[in-house]
Amino acid sequence: MASLIKGRILFSVRQSPSLPTVEQQDAWWREAVIYQVYPRSFQDSNGDGVGDLRGITSRLDYLKHTLGVDAVWISPFFPSPMADFGYDVSDYTDIDPLFGTLADADELINKAHDLGLKVIIDWVPNHSSDQHPWFLESRSSVDNPKRDWYVWRDPMPDGSPPNNWLGMFSGIAWEYDEGTHQYYLHTFLKEQPELNWRNPRLVSAMHDTLRFWLDRGVDGFRIDVAHFLMKDPEMRSNPPSGHREADAKDRHHYDAQQHLYDHGHPDIHGVHAGIRAVLDEYDDRYSVGEIHESDWRKWAAYSGTNLDQLHQPYNCSLLWCEWSAPAFRAKIVAQEESLPLGAWPSHVLGNHDEARLATRYGADRARAAAVLLLTLRGTPTMYYGDELGMRDGAIPPGEEQDPWGQQYPHLNRDQCRTPMQWTSDGSRGFTSQDTTPWLPFSDTATTVASQVDEPDSMLTLYRNLLDLRRREPTLAIGGMTMLSSSEEHVLAYERQLDGDSMIIAINFTQKEQPIEFSREVRQILSTHAERSESFAQVTLRPNEAVVVR
Ligand code: NOJ
Repeated sequence: MASLIKGRILFSVRQSPSLPTVEQQDAWWREAVIYQVYPRSFQDSNGDGVGDLRGITSRLDYLKHTLGVDAVWISPFFPSPMADFGYDVSDYTDIDPLFGTLADADELINKAHDLGLKVIIDWVPNHSSDQHPWFLESRSSVDNPKRDWYVWRDPMPDGSPPNNWLGMFSGIAWEYDEGTHQYYLHTFLKEQPELNWRNPRLVSAMHDTLRFWLDRGVDGFRIDVAHFLMKDPEMRSNPPSGHREADAKDRHHYDAQQHLYDHGHPDIHGVHAGIRAVLDEYDDRYSVGEIHESDWRKWAAYSGTNLDQLHQPYNCSLLWCEWSAPAFRAKIVAQEESLPLGAWPSHVLGNHDEARLATRYGADRARAAAVLLLTLRGTPTMYYGDELGMRDGAIPPGEEQDPWGQQYPHLNRDQCRTPMQWTSDGSRGFTSQDTTPWLPFSDTATTVASQVDEPDSMLTLYRNLLDLRRREPTLAIGGMTMLSSSEEHVLAYERQLDGDSMIIAINFTQKEQPIEFSREVRQILSTHAERSESFAQVTLRPNEAVVVR
């Protein structure tokens, strides 16, 4: 246990609760770094101002050779009315013309594989678009064979919704259908009706959509809101949380209830075991589920006690972590302690729903966060543009593109989805010269071109970290021991493999922090300047992160 002695931190070793086990040692996703691409915003190949699949294909060399990641996760590109920019799928087995064609998807997958990159796609099984042919059929009459593929219920005797469940972002989770006089469930927008995973025909049809992509060579799936697929079969109302009133205009209106019945029913584990069985029909495939669950035991249960459900539940908790060593430590340790033996953690610090990393924490802290993300035990997922330190874009009022943002400005997510900045010219290398991109660029200065040869740039830091991970199996697959205690403001941990050991120390404060190691060490990497001599004591500069051996 680390202890503070005369203002110095003394490191010693405590064994990690869940070291990697033999059966997972060969899994590619265990040592991979995943890079999330928001397809509207990565690269436009046809000059319409919106990114597309051919654009992504043209940038795979950047991902492989310039940056050095191992897998690319692409947010939804399926046909969609775009009520939620693709998270409202109207055909699970095709490509929206905005993004290209199936032939473009095949080319992307093939080129990625030629380069040694894995391809992960988004799969949205909780809800489809209300324009999906399944829903159009389901909605057409109460006795349509697909009626039960969605969640329909009669109104209460007074005509009100069947229960009190809330929409995640606003209002109630039920929409009345004038044609058939029943309500359908939608946790998200009313254009995103909930699929009924208790109907075996629906289950089988959704499994086939997985096989469609697995047959095309896709290596894995990021599963959207994977904890929502099973609700209480009795559809009981949720009890109030006592925290606040359910006010649709309140950003946190969803917190007005304890969400006991509207997601995460224990039957969900059978659903995920079924999905895993489909993936296991193929070699080496992978699933990572978006699971928002504050009870760590319940969260970890999505791995399956025998590791037979999701390969990984996403650890989203770091996305909302306050910038302090105790707060990060608590979440990292909680994940480690809750996962079943042999499971492998995941870490993510940025995505298409949250403020940009550099905006949340500031530029210096974002550098330290990069070290954290890429040196913790587990699979890291990076978000496009974070490797440049891209900041949130400014979206002029009235010009919101995110359909949520148009309905509810306080929920707008455009700012973290602005186009990737490749070069400093007017189009930033994202689209053609005279085209206005679908969202404004966040700034002029933060570009790949301006950073790639710059020794102190954010991009160089990420490249160095990724290179280090590739060269040092200790960082990629080693065990981990937390060294600092829960009160300390320097977060420190040791990675170990086959007698090798590396220590990472991150100063979460704005002050210098002297630290002392239990032995003489040599610096391998720092967010700040080089230290060429070996040392047993060192003073970390504000927000400095170091890797030593
Ligand atoms: C989570 C996704 O990350 C978000 O972008 C989407 O709007 C919701 N799920 C609904 O699919």
